[in-house]
Amino acid sequence: MVLWPIAASAYADQVDWLFLALIALAVTLAAPPILALIVFAVRYRAGRPADRTQPPHRKAGLELAWTLIPFALTLVCFAWAAWLFRTHAAPPPGDTLDISVVAKQWMFKFQHPGGQRELDELHVPAGQPVRLLMTSQDVIHSLFLPALRIKQDVLPGRVTQLWFQADRPGTYHLHCAEYCGTNHSLMGTRFVVLTPADYQRWLRQGGEDDVLARQGAALFRARGCSGCHEGGAGAPVRAPSLNGVYGGPVPLADGTSVIADEAYVRDSILLPGRQIVAGFKNDMPSFAGTLTEGELQSLVAYVKSLGMEGADDGQLPDGRVQPEIMAPHH
Ligand code: CUA
Repeated sequence: MVLWPIAASAYADQVDWLFLALIALAVTLAAPPILALIVFAVRYRAGRPADRTQPPHRKAGLELAWTLIPFALTLVCFAWAAWLFRTHAAPPPGDTLDISVVAKQWMFKFQHPGGQRELDELHVPAGQPVRLLMTSQDVIHSLFLPALRIKQDVLPGRVTQLWFQADRPGTYHLHCAEYCGTNHSLMGTRFVVLTPADYQRWLRQGGEDDVLARQGAALFRARGCSGCHEGGAGAPVRAPSLNGVYGGPVPLADGTSVIADEAYVRDSILLPGRQIVAGFKNDMPSFAGTLTEGELQSLVAYVKSLGMEGADDGQLPDGRVQPEIMAPHH
């Protein structure tokens, strides 16, 4: 059983030591009076033939000692915590890796300096200071990285900052820590710390995803998907727009809703009649057997990229448009 979340940074270790010291101090200070209370309550309870003749007498030195020593010890903890807070309030001078973050119901969208984007998962290199420049497109969210012992609210119309240096490669948790609506508990998944070499490899692969999405975009037009899904009012058949759909909840005709993940997009291409979007009819032919696996993959990558663009342009999955937000600048 794990009592303590895994620590992935030197800072997390320091926070843990402070936390342990606070617990130890609290127990040390609280235990004596509580034990004395129990002992005296038993010894001098009503009906007990105890000696009660001793007059009360004060020992000023003793009273000062048990007041001032605990006070000094708690001040030590205060100074320690203040020092830790100050040391880590701002990133070290020099190069930080700046990643921009847009939160919306219910996803985190991350963009790396090279343009590589990812949803809900965050990949970072170990041993390098990373700065997250965060803003929200709707309500208040909060990015929580338990393995680093850090958390920061993400606010609409404002850019908040969170910086860290992860030291131990591994896969950890990433959560939204501010209740933000129905699917709050599903917001955020993995925080992946890679070695610098693996991070570079991952970045290049992110570039390949973009290539896949571009192929998907061409296919989307070539196979006629765009005619209905982008056709607007003049289209022969009314079909839901796919902008900003990926990663969010999709209301279905039967009153339930699903999260638009890769499996959902794939199923919707192959078995369009299985899950009908609320407010639409089942007009789409199945593409099962007419697309290769590779073509399916690039179409899914394209829809995925539309989801991320949706997170950029203020378009919510249900078509509502959010007021202008300040873009994070570097
Ligand atoms: Cu976003 Cu809770």
